[in-house]
Amino acid sequence: MERQIQKILNRRLTLEGAGVKLKRVLGNDDDSTLDPFLLLDHFGSDNPQDYIKGFPWHPHRGMETVTYMWTGEVEHGDSMGNKGVIKSGDVQWMTAGSGIIHQEMPQKYDGLMQGFQLWINLPAKKKMVDPKYRGIVKEQIPMVQKDGVKIKVIAGKVDGTQGPIRDLAIDIEYFDVKLASGKTFEHTTTKEDTVFAYIVEGSVEVQGKTITQGQCVVFGKGDFAKIDSKNISRFLFVSGEPLNEPVAWRGPIVMNTQEELDQAFEELDAGTFIKTKNSLYPKQGIEVL
Ligand code: CO
Repeated sequence: MERQIQKILNRRLTLEGAGVKLKRVLGNDDDSTLDPFLLLDHFGSDNPQDYIKGFPWHPHRGMETVTYMWTGEVEHGDSMGNKGVIKSGDVQWMTAGSGIIHQEMPQKYDGLMQGFQLWINLPAKKKMVDPKYRGIVKEQIPMVQKDGVKIKVIAGKVDGTQGPIRDLAIDIEYFDVKLASGKTFEHTTTKEDTVFAYIVEGSVEVQGKTITQGQCVVFGKGDFAKIDSKNISRFLFVSGEPLNEPVAWRGPIVMNTQEELDQAFEELDAGTFIKTKNSLYPKQGIEVL
């Protein structure tokens, strides 16, 4: 059975971090939080003033962040001493697990800086796993190409081609799809999984309904999803296994109960938030948002 349109979401302009102007696609309200996906932010501007203040030191626990840059660079560093730069075309898949404190700072870029951050919830039994980073450079992301359809496979599988991000806490597919005019993307999905497509460029049609740049189509349950391109279009296509667990969420910390949330914030105050042994938890100079 083909997946029907469940709803179409419109992104909202949001100010986040130390003053970054971004477009929030998922996570604006309960209606735009799609278990297991909590939030999807699209940052992008040709004016560095819109993003240069970045996302200074803040914690995460109980969830994952997936940062995917189309153009531009984000410097990343955490309190355990890990450092890196996410460059154009690269992906950083971060499992916060029991807790990290990090900062994400977009660098001044000449031209349109554009990227995405998706937040994925972790199941109760994996919320307190050790933090983990997967850094993937653009050359590691395979592209499946056929008759006007180009699919960059970040996670999941297309026609036997598997993405480099594997062994995830829950099953997730993450594709970057480019369609030539009049072409169709069709993908088999696990019936009960949550599936959405965020249209970044151009416009598409799903079951005769037009979905334009900046809109996100959320699919109902079904065996496959189909998207037709009306002109040259590019979108993120994402699927994931719903957790069906209670969500206790405050800022960048996502747990199952209020008690667990309170505990996390108490630990932040007490300086006991980081659980990994080789932690270089900074004692001062860290402003937690
Ligand atoms: Co963060």
